[in-house]
Amino acid sequence: MSLRLTQALQSGDLVLPDDGALLVLLPTPECDLGALPQSRVQVVQPNKPHHDFFQLAGFECVTDADAPCAAALVCLPRAKAQARAMVFDACTRSTGLVIVDGNKTDGIDSIYKDVRRRVPVLGQMTKAHGRIFWFTAAAGEFADWQAPQDQQADGYQTAPGVFSADAIDPASKALIEALPTRLGRNVVDLGAGWGYLSERLLAIDPKIEVLDLVEADHVALTCARANVTDPRARFHWADALDWSAPGTVDVVVMNPPFHTGRTADPSLGRGFIATAARILTSSGTLWMVANRHLPYETAMDELFTDVREVAGDKRFKVLRAARPKSRQKHRANPNRARRSRPNR
Ligand SMILES: C[S@@+](CC[C@H](N)C(=O)[O-])C[C@H]1O[C@@H](n2cnc3c(N)ncnc32)[C@H](O)[C@@H]1O
Repeated sequence: MSLRLTQALQSGDLVLPDDGALLVLLPTPECDLGALPQSRVQVVQPNKPHHDFFQLAGFECVTDADAPCAAALVCLPRAKAQARAMVFDACTRSTGLVIVDGNKTDGIDSIYKDVRRRVPVLGQMTKAHGRIFWFTAAAGEFADWQAPQDQQADGYQTAPGVFSADAIDPASKALIEALPTRLGRNVVDLGAGWGYLSERLLAIDPKIEVLDLVEADHVALTCARANVTDPRARFHWADALDWSAPGTVDVVVMNPPFHTGRTADPSLGRGFIATAARILTSSGTLWMVANRHLPYETAMDELFTDVREVAGDKRFKVLRAARPKSRQKHRANPNRARRSRPNR
């Protein structure tokens, strides 16, 4: 992405306004924003690890755009509804240019065609398996791309781009069906998404005292706050790979992310397993669902005393791992992966 932005600016084809804020929507660490004047840039990034990445690099970062800007750059995400909502958002914020940059594999050509049908495109460049193009903000032309205010999945509040935005994930359902009705007093839902597992667990088990929802995506966590209204729930916008529990943890439940961008990436799930082993008490239990083909058992055997498959079918397996082994050994998370795209 960075290459196209840098080249479009250096060639003089793309000219930024002389002053005013420059909004950058959803850049990932692979986007080099070095060609932009940093003091004028505001990065909008709800994904916690990516948010922290740009903050550390010296950018002003927010989770949601809330002010007008002179130009807005949309770094195209994979989900089409989310990409369209971002173009609409960029149009409402920008008083001038909207720039869209993305990879072919994320659908840049299709969004380019859709935009060109509605407004004149001022310039474009194709490079590095992608395209960058820009046009003058015209929110009225994209009003039907606005994110629905009441997007739902089976009655739960969701939003474009969050995991399982349109329906409850069948693997998460399988996990809930496999769990005992009494889990433990202090429960953690790692990678809680919009809160399906937590909402169900709190509804089923009155003996739960505290349930901590840990989620990297601020948008998903905002939905979770609406879906999980039980006062025993606590919400943490955090990277599960680094997260430390505020108290004792008896049980961890999770349907861990298995993708980095488009690529299946079991190292993320292994990182989640390592966090579970680190935060659980020595008699604690991890309950996890995963796609059948993902190889998590070795990591679980290394970190837990008793690992079993307790339910499953051709698509999923529900694994139970009890009693983390010596907790000294895995204090630092060995599976900490450097992510460049949001993980699902
Ligand atoms: C497979 S989804 C499961 C969501 C939810 N538990 C459910 O069952 O519907 C995995 C979730 O992990 C979140 N996630 C990905 N990487 C994360 C990280 N490093 N820390 C915390 N959450 C993360 C994703 O945003 C996503 O919501």
